[in-house]
Amino acid sequence: MRVVDIIQKKRENQVLTEDEIRFLLENYQIGKVPDYQIASFLMTVYFNGMNTEELKVFTKTMIDSGETIDFPGVEKFLIDKHSTGGVGDKTTIALAPIFGALGMGTAKLSGKGLGHTGGTIDKFESIKGFRFSNSKEELIKIVNETGTGLMGQAESIVPLDKKLYALRDVTATVSSIPLIASSIMSKKLAVHADAIILDVKVGSGAFMKNIDEARELATTMYKLGRAFDRNIVCILTNMDEPLGNAVGNSLEVVEAIETLKGNGPKDFTYLVEVLGAQALILKGDIKTLEEGIERVKEVIKNGDALMMLKKFIKGSGGDPNVCDDYSLLNIATETLEYSVEESGYIKHIDAEKIGKAAMMLGAGRATKDDVIDHSVGIIMQKKVGDRFEKGEILLTLYHQNNMRDEIIETLDGAFVFSQEKVEKIPTILDIIG
Ligand code: URA
Repeated sequence: MRVVDIIQKKRENQVLTEDEIRFLLENYQIGKVPDYQIASFLMTVYFNGMNTEELKVFTKTMIDSGETIDFPGVEKFLIDKHSTGGVGDKTTIALAPIFGALGMGTAKLSGKGLGHTGGTIDKFESIKGFRFSNSKEELIKIVNETGTGLMGQAESIVPLDKKLYALRDVTATVSSIPLIASSIMSKKLAVHADAIILDVKVGSGAFMKNIDEARELATTMYKLGRAFDRNIVCILTNMDEPLGNAVGNSLEVVEAIETLKGNGPKDFTYLVEVLGAQALILKGDIKTLEEGIERVKEVIKNGDALMMLKKFIKGSGGDPNVCDDYSLLNIATETLEYSVEESGYIKHIDAEKIGKAAMMLGAGRATKDDVIDHSVGIIMQKKVGDRFEKGEILLTLYHQNNMRDEIIETLDGAFVFSQEKVEKIPTILDIIG
């Protein structure tokens, strides 16, 4: 078999066999196929795609490039919830304890943030002493003890994805739907949770900017999950404005805790209710979304979900008192209130620009080696559809005396106003599954 023939076959839009896909990827992993041939192959996939069978083999080969994780002895129904990333996305912090309070568990790999979207690892690391599982053994142990297991991206899980992603990044092939789907799903399928919930974010602050592309990605990932006989649902959710009000690590932890106390912002609370309900549907406990939402509301109201978060923080080396005393978190004391010299309704908030402003304050990384400042960020006081008067605060910046004109200019470009009343944007756009 010759690599050049495989590239040519895909270039001519023919279907590749299992042997061809395996030959290409396995030899790439061990350094026998050079980057330039794989780069060329990736471009043919970018233009011609892969059918479900090819994608299944491609994904399976990715999974086989590393270790997989099973949870022997864990009786709880385990959920792997994954978000494609957005601004203010603190969902896991509130949702994992909700799963716990509903009698289920969480087992997932989590990432560090890069660019304008934050990572769950960074958010939890706002809590002093908190540490993630960093081996398969630790993950299994903490899932058994607390019902929640989150592990930083491990080198040993789908190592081929890291190599391929680095190449996609410099060959303009990151945005290929089959390549994104196999990259995300290989990491989900390598961890043997009982069900997968994918939150595909759509909008200015997300990787997928429009609903059609996002639906195509969600459908592709759903089909892949089913091809591997997994219990899976994909939810398309709005990222045309930040999720909730808080953007920035410590501030988002506070918002997630407040949500578990019943004081969360409406959009974020509704999202965790729907995702919690979907988990119960996948488990087979209930039939309708409404029943599930009621069950989630109950565990928030009776304090069980908050108790589960405290248990998880304690089990991870952090101080659970943080849930009752936010002074234990590092939150910047310098603030700046942002307002404008006009009145009206908020028509649009460019979530990406809000994320970039937070990143410039230090809440995110421009490059992967940057060090995060957990204390800084933004609290949105107004969201799409809200009325505001001249001089009224639209958002508050928490900073470390590092305000720059550039940050304010970014915020100036983030808002679109209207004199007409504007409808709020729905949080959930579609459910596939
Ligand atoms: N996230 C991933 O893990 N892979 C991609 O290709 C895109 C987003």
